[in-house]
Amino acid sequence: MVATQARHDVKDLSLAVLGKQRIEWAGREMPVLRQIQERFAQEKPFAGVRLVACCHITTETAHLAIALKSGGADAILIASNPLSTQDDVAASLVADHGIAVYAFRGEDNDTYQRHVRIALDHKPNIIIDDGSDVVATMIQERQELLADLIGTTEETTTGIVRLRAMLKDGVLTFPAVNVNDADTKHFFDNRYGTGQSTLDGIIRATNILLAGKTIVVAGYGWCGKGTAMRARGMGANVVVTEIDPVKAIEAAMDGYRVLPMSEAAAVGDVFITVTGNKHIIRQEHFESMKDGAIVCNSGHFDIEIDLKALKELSSEVKIVRNFTEEYRLKSGKSVIVIGEGRLVNLAAAEGHPSAVMDMSFANQAMACEYLVKNKGKLEPGLYSIPVEVDQEIARLKLQAMGITIDTLTASQIDYMNSWTSGT
Ligand code: ADE
Repeated sequence: MVATQARHDVKDLSLAVLGKQRIEWAGREMPVLRQIQERFAQEKPFAGVRLVACCHITTETAHLAIALKSGGADAILIASNPLSTQDDVAASLVADHGIAVYAFRGEDNDTYQRHVRIALDHKPNIIIDDGSDVVATMIQERQELLADLIGTTEETTTGIVRLRAMLKDGVLTFPAVNVNDADTKHFFDNRYGTGQSTLDGIIRATNILLAGKTIVVAGYGWCGKGTAMRARGMGANVVVTEIDPVKAIEAAMDGYRVLPMSEAAAVGDVFITVTGNKHIIRQEHFESMKDGAIVCNSGHFDIEIDLKALKELSSEVKIVRNFTEEYRLKSGKSVIVIGEGRLVNLAAAEGHPSAVMDMSFANQAMACEYLVKNKGKLEPGLYSIPVEVDQEIARLKLQAMGITIDTLTASQIDYMNSWTSGT
């Protein structure tokens, strides 16, 4: 136990014993972040830096927070989703690591907003955001804090979409690092992480057999690709819905049936939304679904399934299992909703496995260091993770996985740099 108790609003500090054990377990799969933490502990890049991290409070996020604290950061953690906090992890971060945490599973919207405001009262120099709620609130309500802000980092596709909208509206007046677009982030976290953890959430919530089911995946971005791939791997017949013609061709050539949702609604047994947009499944779709169809969302916000419309169609809603509700429609059919339409992989399971979050959070840690090292030198705008950082993270991950790869010979390097040798 640390001597000083960090500030907190968590469910129950006595859960710290379990949280500590689970955080340690996750660490076994996070060798890249561990190496960064060890370097941070020596170099203290964040000495004197006030940092806010708005993330899903999981065992993996715990390792990010510990790395930042080892580097000298004065950090506060808040939840980026009301249903994703692992209360034992939050307790251990406070009790065992002296890190301030304002998050508990099931917090209501007012509490969520209150925690965002507490985080802003910390007057952050660096903000790590997952969905851009803290950054958006700061711009809308706390402009005076911009003077102390060195920069922000963003974890997820949805947050990047919001940052681009801020840029377009001329309100992004600071450097923001797009962690999501690093190759070592979205190729792995969005694809293999979402792919596995989404099915994990559905299985934990329902215990249904996926083999032989028709699973409709709405959206064929990296998360959709991973989800479709893993659903097919479990023996499901996968249908993809898309609005982007190129992605739709890709899905078709990857061997999936591509349908508009108006047709997919009638054939699906399970529906998974991963689009980042609102009302992907709405009234007319619920009306044509099979009795007992299961719907869930693995996109960032709980807007993809129009639950308000579903409620209006229903005469009764009851909890049928953990994280699982049955909506009994006035027509007599029922629709099953997992995790209240929030991220199913975090609401009903534990989010992406540690091995992929290792790379995502290595990118986050390095992005924060990059911002601090370049304090005052970066123009306002959206920055990519430097290619060298991406490559270094991949190299460290390969090393940890015991995989060696080839290197170019001198003549291959010459060849790649020349235009004179052709046919
Ligand atoms: N987003 C998805 N999975 C996650 C995890 N395990 N930890 C933090 N953020 C996540």
